[in-house]
Amino acid sequence: MKRILNWSLATVLSQIPLFQSSIPDLDDQSWIQRWTAVGDSYASGLGTGLRLDYGCSRYAGGYPNLMETDERFGLNPNRTFQYLACSGLKSTEILTKQVPHVLDNQDLITISAGGNDVALGDVLDSCIFQWKHGNSARCDAALVRSQELIDTVLETNVDLLIDSLVTKLSPNGRIYYPGYAQFFGDSVSCNNISWSVWPRMPPSDRQNLTIERRVRMNHMVSQVNKKLKQSIDKAGENVIFIDWDWTFAQAGGRFCENGTREPAPQRQGLLFFEWNTMDDGDDPNLLIRPGDPVPSDSFEGDIGKWVLETLTKHPDWQFGPVGTEPIAIYPAVMERLIDSQGLRAQLGFDDYVFWFLPDSWKRVFHPRALGQRLIADMIIHAMAVEKANMVF
Ligand SMILES: *[C@@H]1O[C@H](CO)[C@@H](O)[C@H](O)[C@H]1NC(C)=O
Ligand SMILES: *[C@@H]1O[C@H](CO)[C@@H](O)[C@H](O)[C@H]1NC(C)=O
Ligand SMILES: *[C@@H]1O[C@H](CO)[C@@H](O)[C@H](O)[C@H]1NC(C)=O
Ligand SMILES: *[C@@H]1O[C@H](CO)[C@@H](O)[C@H](O)[C@H]1NC(C)=O
Repeated sequence: MKRILNWSLATVLSQIPLFQSSIPDLDDQSWIQRWTAVGDSYASGLGTGLRLDYGCSRYAGGYPNLMETDERFGLNPNRTFQYLACSGLKSTEILTKQVPHVLDNQDLITISAGGNDVALGDVLDSCIFQWKHGNSARCDAALVRSQELIDTVLETNVDLLIDSLVTKLSPNGRIYYPGYAQFFGDSVSCNNISWSVWPRMPPSDRQNLTIERRVRMNHMVSQVNKKLKQSIDKAGENVIFIDWDWTFAQAGGRFCENGTREPAPQRQGLLFFEWNTMDDGDDPNLLIRPGDPVPSDSFEGDIGKWVLETLTKHPDWQFGPVGTEPIAIYPAVMERLIDSQGLRAQLGFDDYVFWFLPDSWKRVFHPRALGQRLIADMIIHAMAVEKANMVF
């Protein structure tokens, strides 16, 4: 009797079979039999690590592939993983091109969508890189247009996408929807930095990374996240918003962070790709390989279109990777483009355009490998939280 009194309650309970190892391992996600990753270039992992395909620019470093190969997912030989994400798509296109391929009874679906719905590419073009020659008025117009799209179409588009995917879930199934992250910190030294790509563009047209512009672009991303979250909240408890925006700020991983001096594309801890960069682990032969098909009317396709327009107007302008020959595309590109039109019909790529700039340029403003790792970990952590709430 005396001995028993000295035991703690936990020790006593642990002697009773009912209380033995009843705590599920929340990190063990090997229960997942079917899962699918849909979305845009943030989900295809554009430019991170080994390239998995050309048409959609899926990469091994994208968060879906990081999750699939994460030890917390375990080795379940029955698991099916559909990696349907494709660079450049709007949520309306994800709905029509990816959702029909998603099998029923999914235990897990991840979505990245909405960034292309609000013409973010036009903002990056007109306010930052200026692949198409323009002035400040063009940047202002793009920002106004994006805000309009955020206010009008975004939430409706995302509602439709989520509604169609909820019907594909298994009883314990969940949808995780990572948003986007603000791009800029508030370093003063960025105010008179320009990332305009054409050295010969008149200085008065060159757009600078002024604090006003950076605040406006950050605000745009916050507005997108806010709409996504509204849509997700309406969809019920099985759809979970993953807010990773704060992590990039917390890690000092944005452009123009206080105390940094841009351009600093190789800065340790930078979590977004800057213009024309190589990372550790990048295969230069894969990244610099031009001439692949990309969806037309996509961010990637648009960059090519804008560059061509500028070169048509200014045949003597050039740009190219630092330390290499300027890219020799002028007449050659035109010929190749015409040639590719023929090829395109031949190969049946009816909604792809051939491309002549490498992914190492197109991946600007996308998360680098470490950024994708953070997103994957945020989702896996949220899955652990959900698992605590599930009945197995
Ligand atoms: C895989 O499927 C087979 C056949 O349905 C089943 O016997 C087995 O337990 C499954 N394995 C896992 C790890 O779920
Ligand atoms: C802005 O640029 C000029 C030269 O172009 C330089 O002298 C000046 O220090 C820069 N200002 C800041 C705040 O970086
Ligand atoms: C950007 O900065 C440069 C150099 O400081 C300046 O010449 C140019 O006018 C600025 N561009 C705009 C659109 O204000
Ligand atoms: C940025 O750095 C300056 C100078 O070091 C400092 O005064 C300012 O508070 C910092 N801003 C933020 C947001 O940390």
